[in-house]
Amino acid sequence: MSINFHKLAVNGVQKLTPYVPGKPIEELERELGISGTLKLASNENPMGPSELVTEVLSNLKLPLSLYPDGNGFILKQKLADKLSRKQTEITLGNGSNDVLDLIARAFLCEGREAIYSEYAFAVYPISVQAVGATAKVSKALAIDHKENPYGHDLDAMFELITKKTRVIFIANPNNPTGTWLKTTELDNFITKVPDDVIVVVDEAYFEYVEEVEYPDTLQWLGKYPNLIVTRTFSKIYALAGLRVGYAVSSSEIADLLNRVRQPFNVNTPALLAATAALDDQEHLENCVKVNSEGLKFWQTACEERGLDYIPSVGNFITINFKTNAMPIYEALLQEAIIVRPIANYGLPNHLRITISTPEENQQCLTALDKVMKV
Ligand SMILES: Cc1ncc(COP(=O)(O)O)c(C=O)c1O
Repeated sequence: MSINFHKLAVNGVQKLTPYVPGKPIEELERELGISGTLKLASNENPMGPSELVTEVLSNLKLPLSLYPDGNGFILKQKLADKLSRKQTEITLGNGSNDVLDLIARAFLCEGREAIYSEYAFAVYPISVQAVGATAKVSKALAIDHKENPYGHDLDAMFELITKKTRVIFIANPNNPTGTWLKTTELDNFITKVPDDVIVVVDEAYFEYVEEVEYPDTLQWLGKYPNLIVTRTFSKIYALAGLRVGYAVSSSEIADLLNRVRQPFNVNTPALLAATAALDDQEHLENCVKVNSEGLKFWQTACEERGLDYIPSVGNFITINFKTNAMPIYEALLQEAIIVRPIANYGLPNHLRITISTPEENQQCLTALDKVMKV
């Protein structure tokens, strides 16, 4: 008798659409028999990690038979010092995706609702549906909105709050749009949200943002006990392959998140590398500078070519080709360049390109010019 395993899965999982990652370099090179591929598809940092990290990892003499420190004491202590928070307010994750999942598992289940915006980061629907909760998706701001096209519409999000709402996910800045919310608007929004609704502000690209009106959300933890801020070592710290992220919240919420956390969710090399990365402020500032120049390079390039792009404060830019972008994506693959199609976000005419070094930005632009002329 053949068994229908799909039917055996819990309701939420049956309805899940799996996360689509950027195409791995090895896969493209295997398929096309090429080498030297440039991957600008996953918002990784082309500058690589700090030398302090490389040093720690190359001198690693670990008894691999031992479990990591399940509490991540040293990293948490360093983070707490750097962020002027208490250790008990920090929850470590296997990437910040893991933390988002912990939040869903701690606060959502069948019969409860979570709110996020159209075009918001693709992990929110997965985390919400996997635990059987209901996703309420607010319309994003219009694409011709003057201030924040494609951005989160906080009024629309507020309208969706019901008695069943437990979590609101806000990506600031958001991926794949690069849109962001200012201090006053986000503050005004959280003030209005009922105290028993958890507001998650996902700041995966926090360190890249140079706007003066970008909020310092950690300052709000005292006045909003329902606030959770998530950050990651995958982006500017360039440790995506090691998987470390964290949440900062009230100690009470951190305690709940830690109850559902796998005891050893962050491995030893990751803990050591993240701790070392926090010591290199100079490298971080250099990465911000290179990214900022790269963003300007792409904005100018788009303007010169009459290409519409979404104004971004992250380490990526999303271009609207006003026609199905898949042929452009495919043609770029033939040029050994991987960017990110985002039709899965409801944006089939757009491609998201990670900002890179001046040489790699130029290489991608030259290839784009070539394929667009075809
Ligand atoms: C908005 C946003 N949040 C969270 C993440 C998760 O990153 P990680 O799990 O590598 O920390 C990403 C990764 O792309 C992201 O874009």
